[in-house]
Amino acid sequence: MSDTVTMDQIVSLCKRRGFVFQSSEIYGGQAGAWDYGPNGIELKNRIAQFWWKEMTQLHDNIVGLDAAILMHPRVWEASGHVENFTDPLVDCKKCKTRFRADQIPEENLKTKTCPECGGELTDVRKFNLMFKTNIGPVEDGSGLIYLRPETAQGIYVNFKNVLQSNRMKVPFGIAQIGKAFRNEIVTKNFIFRSCEFEQMEMQFFVKPGTDEEWFDYWREQRWNYYRKMGIRMDKLRWHRHGPEELAFYAKDAYDIEYEFPMGFKELEGVHNRTNYDLTRHQQFSGKDLQYIDQDNGNERYLPYVIETSAGLTRELLMVLCDAYEEQKVADKGNEDDYRTVLHFNPIFAPVTVAVLPLMKKDGLAELAQDIRSELKEDFVTDYDQSGAIGRRYRRQDEIGTPYCVTIDYQSKEDHTVTLRDRDSMDQIRVPRDKLSLAIREKMKSYKRV
Ligand code: GAP
Repeated sequence: MSDTVTMDQIVSLCKRRGFVFQSSEIYGGQAGAWDYGPNGIELKNRIAQFWWKEMTQLHDNIVGLDAAILMHPRVWEASGHVENFTDPLVDCKKCKTRFRADQIPEENLKTKTCPECGGELTDVRKFNLMFKTNIGPVEDGSGLIYLRPETAQGIYVNFKNVLQSNRMKVPFGIAQIGKAFRNEIVTKNFIFRSCEFEQMEMQFFVKPGTDEEWFDYWREQRWNYYRKMGIRMDKLRWHRHGPEELAFYAKDAYDIEYEFPMGFKELEGVHNRTNYDLTRHQQFSGKDLQYIDQDNGNERYLPYVIETSAGLTRELLMVLCDAYEEQKVADKGNEDDYRTVLHFNPIFAPVTVAVLPLMKKDGLAELAQDIRSELKEDFVTDYDQSGAIGRRYRRQDEIGTPYCVTIDYQSKEDHTVTLRDRDSMDQIRVPRDKLSLAIREKMKSYKRV
């Protein structure tokens, strides 16, 4: 068994098995953008559903929102993004390569020499990461609009709407999943950092003074979320922001980091954003955003915000890296000696059950199709009748299908089928009329070995 996975292995599997493709590949590709294939979109949707259930259904005081990507440009002035959402950049005058100034050796910055070709570097410039576009028919700058670089602001500007329409009481939260866009200069490491990506963010509004308690609560909740996902917990760690990393409005911030093939990197942030955002939106919009606490003598205040901010596309990469294994399975010296297997928690697997007739002939294919139709009602299924059965199992292992149902000659006789477990490769015989139940029970009791 090999515990280490390289990014090349993940990229290759993703393309080969329809998880992730390069955007606009037939035109040479578009840097910083990725397309999610048939298996990728299933996996992404399942992670999003898991997060959504965890954050809304399982919390009485959190509701959802889906705000527009295009927002009033003043939003980004109020949030500080127009002024502060920048990377320090330098360009090489000779080879034209662009670097983030904080990611090249200090010596090169001091001597202004390019780390690639030794050419002369420009002075450090601030480069804003927001994508600008134009709304309306005139392109004279009056229709300037930004693609949102985070989903959070859509929540802040709807704070009063949600508060009033749903009669919420502080403390309460608003959750949102959606696209965000950043003009990232360094987009290596596959989908880890891209220009177009998805976030899963929750802003929890609390009474000032109770923020530290809620901050601890949400740190614990978010840590347990990954345990519940079935991620290997020794691959996760906390990183607390030091004074130089802390955003100017943040009181405290922690990242949850995962050990990707390129090392421990940020997966999600838990931030105490104080009442900075609501204060600024109140100031810039001229609208009163204060909460009136009717249970406490109509006390008025601007709530503090505890934010949990995770990347959906980054979580998808984590789930793939965490599941991937090239496993030695037999010593027969034939091609089946090794298999590539994705040990997905079954709730995330793009296909839950594959139905495989041992042979196409003698009515086995028809029987298998019939059984598949029954299973379709409860599970995402696949059907495969081509090639040797061993190869078909390997194909399913590679996309992480947790269960394979095989229909053989005995099935015709006694109405039983074999149910194969992806991880152990054990097979048991199950009566056809108990199949759905057996799969559901296996899913419920799933534990990664
Ligand atoms: N609202 C706070 C916020 O946006 P962030 O740390 O900039 O905070 C939160 O982003 C999460 O979004 C990150 O932890 C990461 O998972 C994801 N993310 C940020 N930039 C990304 C990018 N360029 N590509 C993919 N995911 C990204």
